[in-house]
Amino acid sequence: MARDAAHTISQVTWRKLAAAAEAARRNAHAPYSNYRVGAALLTSRGIVRGCNVENASYPLCICAEAATVARAVSQGWRTWSALAVATEGPEAGAPCGACRQILAEFDLALPVGLVVGGEVRAVHTVRALLPFGFTGEVLARSTGR
Ligand code: THU
Repeated sequence: MARDAAHTISQVTWRKLAAAAEAARRNAHAPYSNYRVGAALLTSRGIVRGCNVENASYPLCICAEAATVARAVSQGWRTWSALAVATEGPEAGAPCGACRQILAEFDLALPVGLVVGGEVRAVHTVRALLPFGFTGEVLARSTGR
């Protein structure tokens, strides 16, 4: 486990967040891939959950992380301290490239815990997951706007 990232919240809180991600995973709509993903975002206002939502038109599938970020932002809950992502095992699935970009838009310092069977297997910050990412700051520096 990447200790710096992991220790921004307590082990007890990680366990609660992991359980919330597992609960969200049970709601996944994944009839095509059969790969169910749940996410739980700890915000200053409470936990926001999301799951992957697939579609018969495959490219329209929504990842659990993207669904969760959209829910949190829609609720106006913008102060985050950790994200747990629960996937099928045995290997822990890390957020896809698109979801790393979606997370980077809001919080590069956010610790992301990878959960299998309710256990946090690893924690990495968004910054570590998306090195050299393209952000609004890069855009602002380049355009002067
Ligand atoms: N999936 C997620 O929900 N999050 C990720 O970061 C990786 C992939 C979903 C999308 C799709 O429904 C299924 O997992 C298989 O790709």
